[in-house]
Amino acid sequence: MTSKVIHSVNEARVLSKKVLPRVVFDYIEGGADDEITMKSNVDDFNKVRLLQKVDGTISDPELSTDVLGKKLSFPLVLAPCGLVRVMHPDGGIGVAKAAKSAGIQSVLSTVSGNSIEEVASVADSTLWFQLYSAGGRDESKKLIDKAEKNGVHTLVVTVDTPALGNRERDRNNGVTTPLRITPDNVVGLGLQVLSKPVWTVRMVQDGVKVFNKTRSKSKSKASRNDGKSMLSMAASPFSWEEIKWIREYWNHKLVIKGLMDVNDGLTAASLGVDGIVVSNHGGRQLDSSPSTISVLPDFVKEIGGKLDVLVDGGVRRGTHIAKALSLGADAVMIGRPYLYGLSVSGEQGVSDVISALKSELKRSLILLGCKSVSELRSQKWLAK
Ligand SMILES: Cc1cc2nc3c(=O)[nH]c(=O)nc-3n(C[C@H](O)[C@H](O)[C@H](O)COP(=O)(O)O)c2cc1C
Repeated sequence: MTSKVIHSVNEARVLSKKVLPRVVFDYIEGGADDEITMKSNVDDFNKVRLLQKVDGTISDPELSTDVLGKKLSFPLVLAPCGLVRVMHPDGGIGVAKAAKSAGIQSVLSTVSGNSIEEVASVADSTLWFQLYSAGGRDESKKLIDKAEKNGVHTLVVTVDTPALGNRERDRNNGVTTPLRITPDNVVGLGLQVLSKPVWTVRMVQDGVKVFNKTRSKSKSKASRNDGKSMLSMAASPFSWEEIKWIREYWNHKLVIKGLMDVNDGLTAASLGVDGIVVSNHGGRQLDSSPSTISVLPDFVKEIGGKLDVLVDGGVRRGTHIAKALSLGADAVMIGRPYLYGLSVSGEQGVSDVISALKSELKRSLILLGCKSVSELRSQKWLAK
C-alpha cells in the first residue's frame, strides 16, 4: 500500500489515515476548538467560482513564477510544520528533498524534528527557515544566526502563536498540550500503535522513542529539535518591536506568517518586510477567525505589489491555487496536504502530492484558456 502512487490530496488523506495511529493523524488533521475556521478555509475556497474562456490553443501553459527572488516551477511553497519525523522517518529531509526536486521551496519549522544542519545540507538554496521563539530575543538570535550559518536566506517569522491553540483532538487522545507522550497516556497509545504496524516499525527503525517520557526541563523550549521524542512547541509571542529588531538584525529576505488583519499587513509593509503569509495557521489557533481566502483580497488591494503576498489554509486542489492567484496572491503554501503524503510514503509521498497539485493547476489553466500563471493574476478568471 505504501508504494502506491498518490493522485490527489484527498487520496493522500485517506491513505494517511490508514497508516498513522490516531494520535498522529489527529495531530495533523485537527484544528482549534470547534474547527470552524479550519473547515471554512476549505469551504470558502470551494465557494469561489472560476470562469473559463474559449481559447483552444493552449496545451502547455507557463506555470513558473518568481517569489521572494526565487524561481518556483509553479506557485507552491511547502509550509513549515512541526514534528514531521513522527509522521515518517524521512521527516524534514524528505520534505526538503521533494521540494527541491520539484523546483519549489520548503520552509523548515523550528520544531520540525530535524536539525537545520541536516536539512539545509540536502536542500541547498530551496530552504527557508521558520522562526518560533519561546525564549525571547536571545533564543531568536541563536536560531537566526544558525539559519544564516547554514546558508538560509529567507526567514519566516510566525506571529500567530502568542498562546497555543486549543486542539481538543489532542486532549481527547490523551496527549497533553504541547503534544507530548507521557507515562500516563502510554497505555492508550499502545493500542493505537499496535494497530498501525507499518508506522510502528518505521519509527522503531528510526530510533524515535515512541513510548519515552520527555524531559520536563525541555518543556518551554521551542528550539529543541532532536526529533527523538514527540515533543512539541511552547507559545511563541512576537511583538512588532521584536519584528522591527529582527528586520534590523537579519539582512536577507524576511516574511511574516500568520496575518489576518490588513492593518497588520500595512504595519509589516512599513517595517520593510519582503513578504507576508495570510494565514490562520490552518485553523489551529484562533477559532472563528475568517477563512484566509476571504481576507486575501484586502491584503492584495492594500499591499500587493509592495511585497509578496502568499496565502495558506485549505488549499487542496490545483483549482484552489488558480483561485488564490486570480484573487491576487503571488503563491500559496500547503501544510496538511504534504503531511498526508509524507506519512504514506515519505519523500515519495510528498513528491506525489506536489505533482498532483501541479498537474491539476496545469489542467485548470488549459481549461480556463489561460496562457500563464502571470496571466492568471486577474479577476477576469472569477465568476461574479
Ligand atoms: C501538523 C501541523 C504542524 C504545523 N506546525 C507549524 C509550525 O511548526 N510552524 C508554523 O509556522 N506553522 C505550522 N503549521 C501551520 C502551517 O504552516 C500552515 O499554516 C497550515 O498548515 C496551512 O493550512 P493547511 O494545512 O490547510 O494547508 C502547522 C500545521 C500543521 C497541520
